[in-house]
Amino acid sequence: MTTARPAAAAAESGQPFLLIRNLVKEFDGVRAVNDVSVTINKGEIFALLGSSGCGKSTLLRMLAGFETPTAGQITLAGQDIVSVPPYQRPINMMFQSYALFPHLSVWDNIAFGLRRDGLPADEIAARVEKMLALVQLQAYGKRKPHQLSGGQQQRVALARSLAKRPQLLLLDEPLGALDKKLRERTQMELVNIIEQVGVTCVMVTHDQDEAMSMASRIAVMSEGRILQVGAPGEIYETPNCRFVADFIGSVNMFSGHVVIDEPDHVTVATPDCQHYIPHGITGTEGMEVAVAVRPEKICIQLEEPGLEQRASAAEQGHNCVSGVISALAYFGNETHYHVRLDSGMDLKVSRTNAARHDDERLRRDQRVFAWWDGADVVVLTS
Ligand SMILES: Nc1ncnc2c1ncn2[C@@H]1O[C@H](COP(=O)(O)OP(=O)(O)OP(=O)(O)O)[C@@H](O)[C@H]1O
Ligand SMILES: [Mg+2]
Repeated sequence: MTTARPAAAAAESGQPFLLIRNLVKEFDGVRAVNDVSVTINKGEIFALLGSSGCGKSTLLRMLAGFETPTAGQITLAGQDIVSVPPYQRPINMMFQSYALFPHLSVWDNIAFGLRRDGLPADEIAARVEKMLALVQLQAYGKRKPHQLSGGQQQRVALARSLAKRPQLLLLDEPLGALDKKLRERTQMELVNIIEQVGVTCVMVTHDQDEAMSMASRIAVMSEGRILQVGAPGEIYETPNCRFVADFIGSVNMFSGHVVIDEPDHVTVATPDCQHYIPHGITGTEGMEVAVAVRPEKICIQLEEPGLEQRASAAEQGHNCVSGVISALAYFGNETHYHVRLDSGMDLKVSRTNAARHDDERLRRDQRVFAWWDGADVVVLTS
């Protein structure tokens, strides 16, 4: 076992390990994976994120060798693996259903692949014990899978995948079978275990929270293509197109056109307000754009915000709308508001409930002002 190596650090240190170049997979003339190129670094936890049918599993299955690419290259640690059969690749794939053998004990499940490879009995025993310790199931070796909870079964499946010491671990919806609370806890456990082993990992998920909380970098996929690759914070704060902004988290999208395009600022006119953005964009005056604003970046209150509340004097008269609270939902830790603007657009705003008693409780049907700092928005040109 190698020493612990946090996946985020591994992503930054940037030792290319898995190179995917112009990968294509067609089924009956339809491209399930369409010209995908991406480089994954050693020790990373890399997530493929996208909605159902976008080609995530197909891409993963090509890495494992269960599907043959129509075109393109896959190189692992400098070796072209496209023509290497699955069982000869230094790769292990953990399936969504875990595929544990129901009639075998936990111990024998983990030992299964090692026995098939003909490892000596003492080596097998040592590895199985080490894996059981790693996933904290030392006391459960004799049990059968059905005598374990869902989270424990998931850990057995992981131990079995890691026992053969793969160089690359592939996880297809690793936590898909668990309920929400258990998923959240298991996400952290899984990351800890993967980082302890130091194995490079590519995981597939359609759950953005899972990708955000587990991965060092995320590739957002749509219709067989990768739209953006980046660290979770980059994908969230600086999405590169409308699809990614809308797919990750909740967002308000104002459509309009660029009025002023200067190197240090731009203004964008939209039906509901004039936007002042204190940085340049790659665009031109008159260009159709969308201004994306996250709900938690928006402040709301009853009075019009004063100059002292604004980020700069330049923003006065910009980045501010007025509307009526059309709906609100209380979630304990935060409250979500819908503010109906004059154009008919519902602006989504979220507020953290830091104080138990809020002096200025906002109610339905109240007219409010909503504003934000122009530095917190993203201007999207595609
Ligand atoms: N063996 C196959 N034969 C024909 N079409 C296939 C095959 N496998 C996948 N496809 C098609 O390729 C596309 C991508 O499928 P894939 O399983 O990769 O999606 P996914 O992103 O993993 O979706 P999900 O989140 O639902 O698992 C789909 O349109 C699917 O119907
Ligand atoms: Mg899938």
